[in-house]
Amino acid sequence: MTQDELKALVGQAALQYVTPGEIVGVGTGSTVNKFIDALASMKDQIPGAVSSSVASTARLQALGIPVFEANDVAELSVYIDGADEIDASGHMVKGGGAALTREKIVAAQSRRFVCIADESKMVKALGAFPLPVEVIPMATARLIRQFAALGGKAQVRFKDGAPLVSDNGQHILDVTGLQITDPLGFESLVNQWPGVVTVGVFAHQKASVCLLGTSAGVKTLVF
Ligand code: 5RP
Repeated sequence: MTQDELKALVGQAALQYVTPGEIVGVGTGSTVNKFIDALASMKDQIPGAVSSSVASTARLQALGIPVFEANDVAELSVYIDGADEIDASGHMVKGGGAALTREKIVAAQSRRFVCIADESKMVKALGAFPLPVEVIPMATARLIRQFAALGGKAQVRFKDGAPLVSDNGQHILDVTGLQITDPLGFESLVNQWPGVVTVGVFAHQKASVCLLGTSAGVKTLVF
């Protein structure tokens, strides 16, 4: 199966975690797009979704799925999202689509995080994928130095010749060369650096379940 087919497989499989009558939390990315497309088949059974990005909101609405503001919904039973990396404990690196802050916000108001990913995302230790960090632009130079002190090389993410601007109006640093051996400690450390909006390590909001698309079918990992 191609990577695209594996993404479609897990996107479809995630429907089993959507509770009829309840609003569902929806992530961002190409795997989630497959889930959103599959969710259209259940749109008459759910009130709608809370979305983690402008892109997912547009896709949901185009399919006739109502989108609620996070502030208007107290708690979600489930949040479904992809990952750039996931380890054997359910810790993830996310933010390849620059939506990490809103993803963490919606994940934080959800009782369960269901990660949908193809098997290429499963890693022994986090850190090979360039770590996305959303930052306030005036702090960029200092944050690049702080990552350098940890052995990382941080670069501003560009799009169309200019720094990419996130849905929140901020910039993204991508950091290579890090070995994230203590995901919880690393997330706590970087998140308190002034100017960091969100670091793309999801350890405090780790996955509860991962639906992993493999050539042998969907493997369910419970953490
Ligand atoms: C977006 C994300 C995505 O979940 C992550 O980048 C995985 O994306 P894809 O499903 O396209 O591989 O964190 O900010």
